[in-house]
Amino acid sequence: MTLQNKPASSHFPLYRLLVDGPGEIVVDLDGEQLAAHPHETVASVMLRHIDPSQYCRSAVSGEPRAPLCMMGVCFECLVEIDGQKNQQACFVRVRSGMTIRRQFPRGERQ
Ligand code: FES
Repeated sequence: MTLQNKPASSHFPLYRLLVDGPGEIVVDLDGEQLAAHPHETVASVMLRHIDPSQYCRSAVSGEPRAPLCMMGVCFECLVEIDGQKNQQACFVRVRSGMTIRRQFPRGERQ
């Protein structure tokens, strides 16, 4: 198991924690184990760990998409959480053992 508390790529993270430590819980993002803190939303954990241009792609145009408003308005943060598609990542707090899958146009995986 790989626990990370730093971005996997060299991008500048949009979010950083105001607390120290790797995080008390582990979530699965596309098969990669990530450390998170219980107060975080799925969107904030993802934006700390992955390049925003790799967050997901539009099912219509195929363009890269990423969370914009972080308050449930724009619907740009949709992900699959524990097998349920189209969940607003900015509204859902992480739980230990949660599985998160980025969404891409049909037949396409990152
Ligand atoms: S980031 Fe806008 S609805 Fe989630």
